[in-house]
Amino acid sequence: VSHVLLIGFMGAGKSTVGTALAGLLGRPFVDLDASIVAGQGRSIAEIFASDGEARFRELELAEIERLRDAIPSVVACGGGIVTSETARALLRELGTVVYLRITADEALARIGDRSTRPLLSGSDEEAAGLLASRTGFYSEVADITIDASSGVPSSLAEQIAARVSEGAAVSGLARVQVPVPGARYEVIIGTGALESAGAMVRGVTTARRVVLVTDENTHRLFGSDVESALEAAGFEVLPLSVPAGEGSKSWATAGSLLESVAALGLDRTEAVVALGGGVVGDLAGFVAATYLRGVDLVQIPTTLLAQVDSSVGGKTGVDLRAGKNLAGAFKQPMLVIADTQVLASLPGPEWASGMAEIAKSAAICGEEFFCWVEENADALVSHDSAVLAEAVKRSVEFKSGIVCADEREAGLRACLNYGHTFGHALENVAGYGSYPHGIAVAEGMRFAIRLAVEAGSAGEEFARRQDALLDRLGLSAIPEAFGPRELLAAMHSDKKVKCGTVRFVLADRPGSWACRSVDDEVIEEHLRAWSASKRGNR
Ligand SMILES: NC(=O)c1ccc[n+]([C@@H]2O[C@H](COP(=O)([O-])OP(=O)(O)OC[C@H]3O[C@@H](n4cnc5c(N)ncnc54)[C@H](O)[C@@H]3O)[C@@H](O)[C@H]2O)c1
Repeated sequence: VSHVLLIGFMGAGKSTVGTALAGLLGRPFVDLDASIVAGQGRSIAEIFASDGEARFRELELAEIERLRDAIPSVVACGGGIVTSETARALLRELGTVVYLRITADEALARIGDRSTRPLLSGSDEEAAGLLASRTGFYSEVADITIDASSGVPSSLAEQIAARVSEGAAVSGLARVQVPVPGARYEVIIGTGALESAGAMVRGVTTARRVVLVTDENTHRLFGSDVESALEAAGFEVLPLSVPAGEGSKSWATAGSLLESVAALGLDRTEAVVALGGGVVGDLAGFVAATYLRGVDLVQIPTTLLAQVDSSVGGKTGVDLRAGKNLAGAFKQPMLVIADTQVLASLPGPEWASGMAEIAKSAAICGEEFFCWVEENADALVSHDSAVLAEAVKRSVEFKSGIVCADEREAGLRACLNYGHTFGHALENVAGYGSYPHGIAVAEGMRFAIRLAVEAGSAGEEFARRQDALLDRLGLSAIPEAFGPRELLAAMHSDKKVKCGTVRFVLADRPGSWACRSVDDEVIEEHLRAWSASKRGNR
């Protein structure tokens, strides 16, 4: 069991901070004193008066014993609980102990009327002395100490929530906040994060059972490690696996997963964990969004594309016969765990997909990120783990900013489609799988920059820099030409068409972009030029 147990003087704010913390962590809140009062049908003062302090401490001990069988909760403990050695040992055993520190004098000032506090009925000096005598015990038992003398309860609760999840994690991991209105969550990034996945997931859900969705590859590579980590954190794991590849992002597979989840009797308090690339993330996310109109979701992305892009932002869905991603829902995860170590087994084309999304994010984000990728391109291509983790962190920070400003793609979020209008059309015309997705997106960025240069908005210098960066990231221009008419028709069948005109994200320089409708004639002319440039390359 891993509770969060708040200790500290009376008046430190254990109940108010505890209630806010429980809300943030999505856990039940337990007030030990209130539980004793409810159980006894008497006030604390009455219990002290008729049975004495020793009896009250016994009742308190019995109450915390009961927490052994409770689901992980946030618990506000009585101020004097730490005076018992047995209680201190039990607190340590039950979870993370958080000490809300204020001075004894401050506590007395906050309490005001002391008549209802049986132990504080003496003089001011006696009362302050009694409280001060507990300070050593609080410090001795605390895993985390928070200065509670200033700060509103909600900000204290946020500090504690951050420290609690930090404590559950391996040190050296990066954390990026995604403060989407109403659905704030964290992305934990770095080598070895998977080992602590159980504790991290436990930090965000009270679920007793979790459905672990994988594809055949991620099941084989990481399934048993993640299952063990989740089980060690007290979850019962219900594994479900689908065939690898885009073909699984279908209505039929989503339907059969939903039927399986229903047959397992998953309830609203339970959760779905997606362990895989963008396909598993989008598919399992869609299941989590729709089953019982929504259950909790945790994303554990295992491809570079999923770590830098698809696991963050809440877009989930499946493909329809008419096109990719045509049915779906927004479903923000409770947590994303991106362990860059798992990328070691990725095949080459999957690296290309991730690299293209990094290049795209850098071009749209701004000069600083773009320069960083230019400086670190070689390290990225040689899969340097620290540089990879930094690239994931920067990409997630960028995406977090966009998604938080425009969760439902009313405008700004469309910039994430840079390179995709042409890229998707190319994949469609060449046949899905003929080129890695990343190569198609990179070709789309090359095409978009030609449009921008010719429209006079981008300079040749940026075009040259971008092309050189794509080359260095292993995203070479494709050798083949495809028919302008077919490509244009494919663009028209894409979701990005608005009122019959095809829209492109066009960047003028890193960080400066616009989403523009481009006339068919202009597109076709550029497609002819693009096609001609490929002649002789075959
Ligand atoms: N939701 C979004 O915002 C968003 C954004 C971009 C892309 N997407 C979607 O993501 C999907 C593509 O995702 P993807 O590129 O991750 O593809 P994918 O999920 O199909 O994974 C690619 C292949 O790599 C394998 N794999 C996964 N992790 C591995 C690992 N660590 N080692 C070895 N093999 C591993 C998979 O089994 C699969 O065969 C598309 O469907 C796309 O539409 C969604």
